[in-house]
Amino acid sequence: MTNDPLTPYGNKPMVTPIVSAVNYQYTSFEVLRQITDGEIDGYTYHRDDNPTVRTVERRIASLEGAEDCVISTTGMAAATMTFLSYLKQGDNLLTFHDVYGANYKVSLILEKFGVDITWLDANNYKEVENNIKENTRMIFCETPSNPLIKVLDIEYLRKQADRNNAMLVVDNTFATPYHQKPLFLGADLVVHSATKGLGGHNDLMAGAIACSTKEQYDKLWFTRQAIGTTLDAFSASLLERGLKTFEIRAQKMSENALNIARFLNKHPKISRVYYPGLETDPGHETARKQMTEGFGGMLAFDVGDTQDQAKKFVENLKQIIHAVSLGCTESLVCLPVLTTMLYMPLERRTSFGVRLNTVRMSAGIENSDILLNDLEQALKNI
Ligand SMILES: Cc1ncc(COP(=O)(O)O)c(C=O)c1O
Repeated sequence: MTNDPLTPYGNKPMVTPIVSAVNYQYTSFEVLRQITDGEIDGYTYHRDDNPTVRTVERRIASLEGAEDCVISTTGMAAATMTFLSYLKQGDNLLTFHDVYGANYKVSLILEKFGVDITWLDANNYKEVENNIKENTRMIFCETPSNPLIKVLDIEYLRKQADRNNAMLVVDNTFATPYHQKPLFLGADLVVHSATKGLGGHNDLMAGAIACSTKEQYDKLWFTRQAIGTTLDAFSASLLERGLKTFEIRAQKMSENALNIARFLNKHPKISRVYYPGLETDPGHETARKQMTEGFGGMLAFDVGDTQDQAKKFVENLKQIIHAVSLGCTESLVCLPVLTTMLYMPLERRTSFGVRLNTVRMSAGIENSDILLNDLEQALKNI
């Protein structure tokens, strides 16, 4: 018999137990000291750490090739924790219009605290070299980006960040570690909305920050512990379950997205397709260089010439679902200007390439033919 009541005969459960405890009984002052001094990975209070969460952190760290990982309540919590940990009054954050819309809201909060922000169009990301300022402390990007799937060269951004000793943070939500490992390409930190492909089933919200050093982990952990953005154990367990099928889902989504992009690219009612897997896409060469096993499950396209046509198309779909979020088992579509970008002023939403009739699609894991037939019939009737 072991001392562990969960495994009295040493048999390990196949699934990490959901530890819902808020607090833990101390067995001695010596153990308390070892935990609080960080000598052992023990547990005292849920806001600090939780064994179910910790297991998933290690799993995501290994997927990203990271030293460690800090998990949080949402993807936006992860991005915000990163900004709060590494930026201070007077620092410049260099970022792109092509990041998930809620980052714009966070930027308004950062500005209140004296952070200076430079916004660039990711189509012209090489403008970074003319926009680094003396006080630039961080470059933050998404590649491929939300919602137009623009591709930025991570190794190039690393070189630019190095000119100023700045950090490079990459939101890898669209690519997922199946297709891209930014830490190997020079990023300091990788941020995720684990709500998306890592979880994969529309049933949990979580964020993750994969760290390249223990020092970064300690710093981000400090912020999480201070502000209380620790994930609950039940969501962590759902995330652990999602991760078991992550690679196979990512593979199928990417296969479906490529089939759909090729199909739409030839369709007379589609005026433009945005997908780095297409050889004609401006991001194709860079994506081939830094992505593996395909180009991911996200694409976008302009339907006809007007928003009414795009709305009609979405309403005509029978299998593909009209909803936000992405990276899950079901295929989803939305009009970014009416959904994920609502956080921005209208003129800003269309200032970097997104059109009123742009549809963003997250390919699911359905049979490709079912998706192509649905798209065909929905386009026929607009
Ligand atoms: C690329 C990207 N990053 C971050 C987020 C924010 O994630 P969450 O909704 O989990 O806060 C999203 C949400 O859609 C996203 O698409």
